Amino acid sequence: MTWTTPPKMPESGQPASPLVELDHAAIQTGFSWDTARTELAGLPDGGLNIAFEAVDRWVAAGFGERIALRWLGKNSERREFSYADLARLSNRFAHLLDRLGVTPGERVCLLAGRIPELYISALGTLKAGAVFCPLFSAFGPEPVRVRLVKSQARVLVTTTRLYERKVRAQRHELSDLRHILLTDGGDESGLLPFHALLAAESDERNPPVTRPDDMALLHFTSGTTGTPKGAVHVHDAVVAHRLTGRLALDVRPGDIYWCTADPGWVTGVSYGIIAPLVIGATLVVDEAEFDARRWYAILEQERVNVWYTAPTAIRMLMKVGAAALQGRDLGALRFMASVGEPLNPEAVIWSRKVLGQPFHDTWWQTETGAIMIANTPGLAIRPGSMGQPLPGIEAAIVRRRADGGVDVLEPDEQGELALRVGWPSLFRDYLGDPDRYRQCFAGDWYLSGDLARCDAEGYFWFVGRADDVIKTAGHLIGPFEVESALLEHPAVAEAGMIGKPDEFAGQIIKAFVALKPGYEPGDALRKELLGFARTRLGPAVAPRELEFMADLPKTRSGKIMRRLLRARELGLPLGDLSTLEGEAPSGPVGMVAE
Ligand code: WT7
Repeated sequence: MTWTTPPKMPESGQPASPLVELDHAAIQTGFSWDTARTELAGLPDGGLNIAFEAVDRWVAAGFGERIALRWLGKNSERREFSYADLARLSNRFAHLLDRLGVTPGERVCLLAGRIPELYISALGTLKAGAVFCPLFSAFGPEPVRVRLVKSQARVLVTTTRLYERKVRAQRHELSDLRHILLTDGGDESGLLPFHALLAAESDERNPPVTRPDDMALLHFTSGTTGTPKGAVHVHDAVVAHRLTGRLALDVRPGDIYWCTADPGWVTGVSYGIIAPLVIGATLVVDEAEFDARRWYAILEQERVNVWYTAPTAIRMLMKVGAAALQGRDLGALRFMASVGEPLNPEAVIWSRKVLGQPFHDTWWQTETGAIMIANTPGLAIRPGSMGQPLPGIEAAIVRRRADGGVDVLEPDEQGELALRVGWPSLFRDYLGDPDRYRQCFAGDWYLSGDLARCDAEGYFWFVGRADDVIKTAGHLIGPFEVESALLEHPAVAEAGMIGKPDEFAGQIIKAFVALKPGYEPGDALRKELLGFARTRLGPAVAPRELEFMADLPKTRSGKIMRRLLRARELGLPLGDLSTLEGEAPSGPVGMVAE
């Protein structure tokens, strides 16, 4: 790609680009990722950089004064950053990383709530050619430690409070970590003051020199077994961020756009930072947690055009009822979309009735980096369906064969959702886990681990997970991480976690625990164990319920059979035990409740 003049940024309210108006099939036919790539500015000699596409290109094209980020603080503070502001501040942060000796490809971790410094650091990290790795601020010390170690973070940006609560005690275990930058302090030895250091750096910086295949983002996600997996994404992913932001979310230049996802997870980065800025929209960021009245007020007062949120939040809005909406004018709202968990058909029907338009479900994963399947504008919604694959994406329902290949199934047959490799935001590795990475592929298919169906008209329907991971309030949690934390308690002999259906969170984490000899089950111990897990894991990851059992059902090799725990919890038939986990259980299944 050669240097091209950035396209003009039209004002909001202008008609959508022709791409959006075309019908789905027509785009699919004429589509190529190389054409999509030409929508970006690019860098000399074929270089590409996400942060340059997000901010600098707009400044170069004369749109520097447009608001890029409108930040709403918890205590009704309000701060605005223009594209030029973000360009300058991220330049400063990139200089600071150079000064701290961070070299291209090294990881910079962020542990913070939705504060402006997070957005500046993310963009500055990318400009410096380093790798941005967000950590969810509601993680407890243990998930934070595991991810800092595994990412081999060189720099951590955080707040004093989060540092004290989640990092300080384990700092000696973080041998790769050289610098900690505090956004609100940093006078102690080894702790650096973010703002004072940024103030000393220059606003100006040469364009980045990253290549499309350079590592840009590291997002941790979880599987059934083992430690969290660090999904590696490259700068080329921005091609998919931009395209899917336009096609699946209908974000247009100049739009006011609000993604409620936290940037501690992939949605909050791909669609809470990158896509809207690359498209030239104004990003609304709310620092506060969910609150129905506050959310409706934001939609009205900020005149939000496009809103991307999650089923858990939608279910809570439904619970609060229409009264919270009374008197609010949501007339600016043009498109609403949802992601992360199944969007119940009732939620689509409710939104049509109460908000005057439907939520559009979208499906993707940390590994896919961007939306793969969606109810695009213009596609008739079948409530309960995730929609259809986007242009450039080939999805199929497959069954794995014993020889390592896959068979593509017929319409309406249930199987694993697979995607043919070749889109730019597909993850390139699990950092340090190449074997686990390889296991995700069969030939040129990426296997998602989700069970689904595809109907005769090409709509995809989510069925469930093929593995034991738990989705709670939209967050993907690996049972192993939770079980390991509980096993640290002296009373715990065995622990098994399942997702238990919940009206709002979709699932909550329920723990089953067998005690060591000498410990008696009881309410006091239950509370103690739940508290223990919460302190270590943080509220987002800790189990909410805990049940004692004399024994946990296990395979002969000693693997806990979570599927059996789940079947028992849900009152489902236990099925053919000989096939569970591929092994026969180790004798009478110890299903003795407390
Ligand atoms: C898993 C991926 C989606 C990006 C943020 C979460 C589930 C995702 C849907 C949907 C039903 C969904 C899947 C998927 N999921 N979207 N529209 N309907 N389930 O990324 O944390 O990697 O989670 O979320 O099970 O595999 P993630």
